[in-house]
Amino acid sequence: MRDLRGVVLAGGSGSRLYPLTKTTNKHLLPVGSKPMVYYPIESLVSAGILDILVVTGVHHFGALVAQLGSGAEFGCRFTYKVQDRAGGIAEALGLAEDFAHGGRVAVVLGDNVFDAPLRPHLDRWHESGKGAMILLARVPDPQRFGVPRFDGERIVEVVEKPPEPPSPFAVTGVYFYDSAIYDIIRTLRPSTRGELEISEVNTRYIARGQMHWAELGGRWTDAGTMESYARAQALGTRL
Ligand code: DAU
Repeated sequence: MRDLRGVVLAGGSGSRLYPLTKTTNKHLLPVGSKPMVYYPIESLVSAGILDILVVTGVHHFGALVAQLGSGAEFGCRFTYKVQDRAGGIAEALGLAEDFAHGGRVAVVLGDNVFDAPLRPHLDRWHESGKGAMILLARVPDPQRFGVPRFDGERIVEVVEKPPEPPSPFAVTGVYFYDSAIYDIIRTLRPSTRGELEISEVNTRYIARGQMHWAELGGRWTDAGTMESYARAQALGTRL
């Protein structure tokens, strides 16, 4: 797995946490005793992924680099890229192509906080050969997330923020992709909210019959809304 590289996406506008995000990047807000973005970084490093790309927007690039540095503090190596505008998670991920030499990536969204180790999931994905893997968490409010639709044990589609969720699961912001990811991103068109959607990427892998899934396990939350940010802080203080 030495060719596998990590990606942490820390762009976006953080508008749902305004005014906390007026001058501070969402991913630098405190969660427990650390900035939010430390959690996804430490999850990748604990899994042995030591080459990590951090993507962020133009406004907070300097603050993020000042906080994270070269990676020495985390025992890893950071590369940084700028996403000019918040064009979506899939757009931000497309910026990883050169960094990953067109190869496989383990992606974690910069506002995801969880305590399950990634290594066992990475090993299972590796053994399965080609394709992608998504990790699910059971949540009380799936309509806020990408939600899998099942046919028996098989996921047939991931629907982004469905008003009537087809299952009680959220697709967490932890994704493993093989080298097909970059060509898939190139074929995407912006959604009605003007973003390249990661759920569309996942649905493409499903259509190819190359999507694996598992429940993440442990405790998981995002931190993009005031309510979930409070949950992340509660979880962060226990990690
Ligand atoms: O947390 C899991 C959920 O994350 C998934 O279930 C959804 O399918 C996925 O779309 C996403 O939903 P959110 O509504 O939470 O996405 P948000 O716009 O808040 O972006 C999440 C992170 O992705 C954010 O902390 C930084 C990164 N991001 C986002 C956008 C839109 C970027 O780096 N660039 C972007 O343009």
